[in-house]
Amino acid sequence: PKIFAITPTYARPAQKAELTRLSHLFMLVPNLHWIIVEDSNVTTKLVQNLLIRAGLQNRSTQLNIKTTAEFKLQSKDPNWIKPRGVEQRNLALAWLRSHASPDRHAIVFFMDDDNSYSVELFAEMAKIQPGRVGIWPVGLVGGLMVERPLLNGDNKVVGFNAAWRPERPFPLDMAAFGISIDLFFKYPQAIFSYKVQRGYQESEILRYLTTRDQLQTLANNCRDVLVWHTRTEKTKLNSEEALQRQNKRSDEGIEV
Ligand code: UGA
Ligand code: MN
Repeated sequence: PKIFAITPTYARPAQKAELTRLSHLFMLVPNLHWIIVEDSNVTTKLVQNLLIRAGLQNRSTQLNIKTTAEFKLQSKDPNWIKPRGVEQRNLALAWLRSHASPDRHAIVFFMDDDNSYSVELFAEMAKIQPGRVGIWPVGLVGGLMVERPLLNGDNKVVGFNAAWRPERPFPLDMAAFGISIDLFFKYPQAIFSYKVQRGYQESEILRYLTTRDQLQTLANNCRDVLVWHTRTEKTKLNSEEALQRQNKRSDEGIEV
């Protein structure tokens, strides 16, 4: 099946580095279609050129929607005070509902731009059956080395090992699941929302689509870690700022 990967992304110094890592992963995974949604009033040349350079023009869709001012993180805010990627993911879901075929089996994956993904994850995702949500462990998240579903002898989910807000209906990260596309047509009301508590975005979308006992366990019975919730350190640009005070810059005419 085709895998639709939905990536919200926003301009910051490390954006091109993050997206280059993802675009090169896509070069290794032919059945991926990348829906990249810029948190911006316009689509940018930076993203467009990156897609062209990776040869992904025919396997990608470039969209944009700027986060409403009220919900936009300011550069000094700690990143957890507001949800991220809500409007971008909803725009991508609207695009999918009007452009993808409800009858052709495909998988939807919410793929943040800063995580680290193994090529093997996508082979696992391709095993998701029609009508199901597939799940697997995620490394380096929620204050643990690994957050994972706990299975019984029949490989059914009996719980989760999450330490952070374990009372969530689905205590897992956005990178921990993939969704059979037919569910988005069956449940047209399934979207992300700002009106949920911190850390509840995953539970919010999943509550429309599945139940705990319907989850399809993947990645060697949820024992293999194929994705890591890495975070890139904020780029220090003190010398660049000093240059700018003299009306100079190191990247004049250069896209970094
Ligand atoms: C965690 C989860 O991994 C996210 O999927 C979830 O959206 C987020 O928590 C949340 O609770 O809202 P985290 O690493 O803390 O993610 O978030 P970021 O990686 O900073 O952002 C998630 C995605 O949104 C990224 O693809 C990022 O590029 C994008 N984003 C972030 C925007 O489009 N605009 C922003 O202003 C910030
Ligand atoms: Mn992240």
